[in-house]
Amino acid sequence: MNRTTPVIPAGDIARQKEYCAELRALNARRPAPPRAWVDTYGCQQNEADSELLRGMLAEMGYQIADAEEGADVIVINTCAIREHAEQRVFGNVGALVHGKRRNPSQIICLCGCMAQEPHVAERLKQSYRHVDLVFGPQQLWRFPEFLRRVYLRRGRVFETQPDDGAIAEGLPVRRSGKLKAWVSIMYGCNNFCSYCIVPYTRGRERSREPEIILSEIRELAERGYKDITLLGQNVNSYGKDLEGGWDFPRLLEAAANLPGDFLLRFMTSHPKDATEKLFDVMARCDKVAPVIHLPFQSGSSRVLAAMNRRYTREQYLDKVAALRARIPDVVLTSDVIVGFPGETTAEFEETLSLIEAVRFDALFTFIYSPRKGTPAAELPDPMPKAEKSANFDRLVEAQNRISLEKHQAYIGTVQRCLIDGVGDDPRHSLTARTAGGRLVHLDGDGALIGQYADVRITDCSTWALFGELAQPSKPSPSQGRSPISSKGAPFPCP
Ligand code: SAH
Ligand code: SF4
Ligand code: F3S
Repeated sequence: MNRTTPVIPAGDIARQKEYCAELRALNARRPAPPRAWVDTYGCQQNEADSELLRGMLAEMGYQIADAEEGADVIVINTCAIREHAEQRVFGNVGALVHGKRRNPSQIICLCGCMAQEPHVAERLKQSYRHVDLVFGPQQLWRFPEFLRRVYLRRGRVFETQPDDGAIAEGLPVRRSGKLKAWVSIMYGCNNFCSYCIVPYTRGRERSREPEIILSEIRELAERGYKDITLLGQNVNSYGKDLEGGWDFPRLLEAAANLPGDFLLRFMTSHPKDATEKLFDVMARCDKVAPVIHLPFQSGSSRVLAAMNRRYTREQYLDKVAALRARIPDVVLTSDVIVGFPGETTAEFEETLSLIEAVRFDALFTFIYSPRKGTPAAELPDPMPKAEKSANFDRLVEAQNRISLEKHQAYIGTVQRCLIDGVGDDPRHSLTARTAGGRLVHLDGDGALIGQYADVRITDCSTWALFGELAQPSKPSPSQGRSPISSKGAPFPCP
């Protein structure tokens, strides 16, 4: 397929696999198999990247550890979205110095979005000398080459140059779950929202080829995955760099037409190009979960323009109306930023009134955090911190009330749920998710994990639903119907 995005040649990927084989042979000579630990911060894209890092580490002969203790290789996959996330990483990476003193041959790696910020790379170079390897997200496919370089002790490795990114296919992956899987459909972001660091850390928008994505989903379904989330910073930009008329709604529908017993979700949708075509596909495809994360960021059109979001309050509300006209009980979640530079109290009130008007099922609320190198970080920001915090608290309080009210409406209904894990409370031995991704606690036999079951909702809190099995459940394939057919039922937040 002709395309504008560079694709890493197969020969370059094969070379990385040769490095893996070389390290595997070296590791095989050790008295015990070496262990590697990958710690992940940030968004689902980073979770998906960590699954690739673990896949590559396994190819290199490492056992994947689930804790830092005794690890021979530590990989910290970082997030730069807010100051707080970065401080946590610096604190935790700093603390690794003690383990390294006890075990000087330990290799410490830092990758992810922070690695792509010049001031962070400089600070690591100067003040975190126990960190051996630093590389940005666009270089992830070269991890075996870098690790080999460090392993053979050719000094510290910093691969943090600015990079628009390419598409790398054929990397080994080690998935964390057996029921739920991430599938990246595209990388990068071209939107340059004025507060956001992502376009600087993740490079330009680029799409994976539809055939490769669809065969990955087909294989996941065949292997029994039940819940597949398509990932991109803005999935609605999918296909712009591809030929053949591909866009996100077309990809989503093609994925939903694949055989198997699974449910599709996607993250994230930028409202400016969430189209009626997308809503139509969601409405007509039973395998597309009736849920959408549609970040609005602010209820004030003036603030939205300053954020470079390219939609107004009214346009956002129109999108929600168009969506609900097609799927009345769609689960709607969102992100919002409080205290954007120059936001007035009256503008904050518009955010509050928007959440009262829309009544999201759940809201991810953030206080604005200035990011070096973004335009918003240069704007005057007169509102005192205490006032921003008070506004934040009001917003959270309002949303908690709405979330609880939305949950209360579930009581007495029967929800088709995927039983997905073990609960930590003996009275609720299982956890499950509604099609809309809402957490349900219930009691039942562990053998049900991985199956769909009808669950009667009996109680709720702001954060979760509580229920009981509505009928003894049989393995879902023998039930002969789609587990996702309950399009009309209410499905709250992830
Ligand atoms: N690509 C996604 C967002 C990824 S970041 C999208 O556009 O929807 C997740 C959320 O973090 C954003 O939606 C925003 O609400 C928040 N965020 C991003 N940058 C921020 C900053 N500088 N300060 C506070 N919150 C921020
Ligand atoms: Fe950041 Fe905006 Fe891109 Fe989302 S769309 S990643 S908020 S720049
Ligand atoms: Fe964080 Fe990078 Fe994701 S900044 S939110 S890990 S894209």
